[in-house]
Amino acid sequence: MAIRRIGVLTSGGDAPGMNACVRSVVRTAMYHGVEIYGIRRGWHGLISGDVVRLDEKSVTRIINKGGTILYTARSKEFMSEEGQKKAASTCKFLGLDSIIAIGGDGTFRGAQALSKFGVNVIGIPATIDNDIGCTNYCLGFDTAANTAIECIDKLRDTMQSHERCSVVEVMGRHAGYLAMYVGLATGATAVLVPEHPLNEDELIEKIRKARLNGFTHYMIVVAEGVGNASDIAQVIKDATDLDPRVTVLGHIQRGGSPNARDRVAATKMGYLAVELLLQGKTNRIVCTHDGGFTDVDMDEGLATKKGMQNMEVAVLAAMTGL
Ligand code: F6P
Repeated sequence: MAIRRIGVLTSGGDAPGMNACVRSVVRTAMYHGVEIYGIRRGWHGLISGDVVRLDEKSVTRIINKGGTILYTARSKEFMSEEGQKKAASTCKFLGLDSIIAIGGDGTFRGAQALSKFGVNVIGIPATIDNDIGCTNYCLGFDTAANTAIECIDKLRDTMQSHERCSVVEVMGRHAGYLAMYVGLATGATAVLVPEHPLNEDELIEKIRKARLNGFTHYMIVVAEGVGNASDIAQVIKDATDLDPRVTVLGHIQRGGSPNARDRVAATKMGYLAVELLLQGKTNRIVCTHDGGFTDVDMDEGLATKKGMQNMEVAVLAAMTGL
């Protein structure tokens, strides 16, 4: 069946590069003479029919903008079959034969559900958590990591001056990739991630080793999925003579202008998503491995678990406690 009218939406937590990706989807669709509509507020907007016609001009100068011009949401209603039916009937009513959904695994589960009602769906991974198993990279991760690194570098200045211990909580929901990456890039004393938790003794041992190596300030990076940063600070306080300061980086990590990596990856992924639809493919997730861009079946992609690589765990062990 020929593709005539595509809807594009962003859903879940926003990520730098979402706008660049919307722009690319719109421009690729227009290039092929396909109509394109933006759906506002993710799946919620598809249920309520909150759509806006887009063209080349409506996405001018958004490649460098953080956030998402389409807004985003986490729709409870869409999680029910009732909500999915409503969204499918919006597609039918508006003549949207295909939906390109930009977001994380929750977004893709929504797309998977919608595809059961005969709507073509393509997912584009965008989440600062970088926790989608079938792709090496999710849009937004690099920009978010650099934002966190900049903040931690600043924290280090004051921690060094006061000879303090800093416990910094980094986002990532249940995943520790952002914390791991940021911890490596900032030379943290210890990095706590849910995939390879350190017990209390191991954490204190890292600090002790650093002290024996002559350090008088300590940077502890904690993935939010590990637990509360204040509790971890208390553990350190109880076991040492340190009085740690806690910083939760929070949503600041999701904002800001996407960097070059995110802009270019978003542009390539958006392009590929439209091309896949035009090739008659549906129920696919766009993904990237070793610099190349490809696609995978959505059911298979969602079933793929993401583990931390042995190399990453080994490097973390070698680079901390110093
Ligand atoms: O999934 C992206 C993310 O930023 C997670 O890292 C974090 O746990 C969550 O979203 C926060 O969600 P909210 O914006 O609803 O507070």
